[in-house]
Amino acid sequence: MINIENVSFKYKNSDYILKNINFSVNNGEVIAIVGKNGSGKSTLGRLIAGITKLKEGNITIDNINISKDIKSIREKVGIVFQNPENQIIFNNIYDELSFSLRNLSKEEIENRISTSLKQVDMFDFKDKDLYTLSLGQKQRIMIAEILAKNPKYIILDEPTTMIDSYGKEKIHDIILDLKQRGYTIICITNISDEILLADRTFILDNGEIVAEIKKQELIDKHDILEKYSIKIPTLLSLLIKLKAEGIDLPIKDFSVEALSIAIKEKLHTERK
Ligand SMILES: Nc1ncnc2c1ncn2[C@@H]1O[C@H](COP(=O)(O)OP(=O)(O)O)[C@@H](O)[C@H]1O
Ligand SMILES: [Mg+2]
Repeated sequence: MINIENVSFKYKNSDYILKNINFSVNNGEVIAIVGKNGSGKSTLGRLIAGITKLKEGNITIDNINISKDIKSIREKVGIVFQNPENQIIFNNIYDELSFSLRNLSKEEIENRISTSLKQVDMFDFKDKDLYTLSLGQKQRIMIAEILAKNPKYIILDEPTTMIDSYGKEKIHDIILDLKQRGYTIICITNISDEILLADRTFILDNGEIVAEIKKQELIDKHDILEKYSIKIPTLLSLLIKLKAEGIDLPIKDFSVEALSIAIKEKLHTERK
């Protein structure tokens, strides 16, 4: 569990970028953090990952205080950034993934690399050079690199902002698959569709968390998204319109599959 208490932050010579942030993330949850550019999302992500040093407030992860044991926190938390090009060190995929595993046995390294490449559907590329891959494929390799280190918590900072639509979908599938496998994920995002992957969405505005919306509240609380200029995901706007017309479709997940099942069931009961 991640616990964030009274966290405020400013850079040297800046005003407060984050103001009294408080929230918890339960194990196995997917959290989306949305907000305008400059609202402080990346700063928050870097503080939780222990890359930027916390100065005010407390962050504890599995009861470990980030200010006391940064090494354990870094082992538990992996972070993936917006632009994979800025994170790649080696040309060869094996070299890239094995670099931070070099203290492990050769067998264990091979094992971790194969498993993580399979989790991002990139196993067939294992002998390829990174420069031959698309940006979306490179980003999947960056996710594999994090997974190979066996983290429990994964922070994705705008993982698909630079990626084409096909690549975005692939990464969305990976996020859902990782949730199934029990990872706890914080997805910082500008892509409104990614709200639909989350159990809870936090809106960050000018350094403050101004709203928390649970997945099951998204239809009824969509005006909050609009208030903070967050685009309503297409699938959600369809459900909002239908509900306004008196058609309530109970769906478990915001996916085309779940919607199609709900429509079929609705038609079926109405025919009876
Ligand atoms: N290293 C830094 N030094 C000074 N100011 C920074 C630094 N990094 C980010 N900022 C400022 O902090 C604010 C929040 O940035 P950021 O956390 O990147 O927001 P977001 O990810 O929501 O776009 C912005 O005004 C940005 O200019
Ligand atoms: Mg950012």
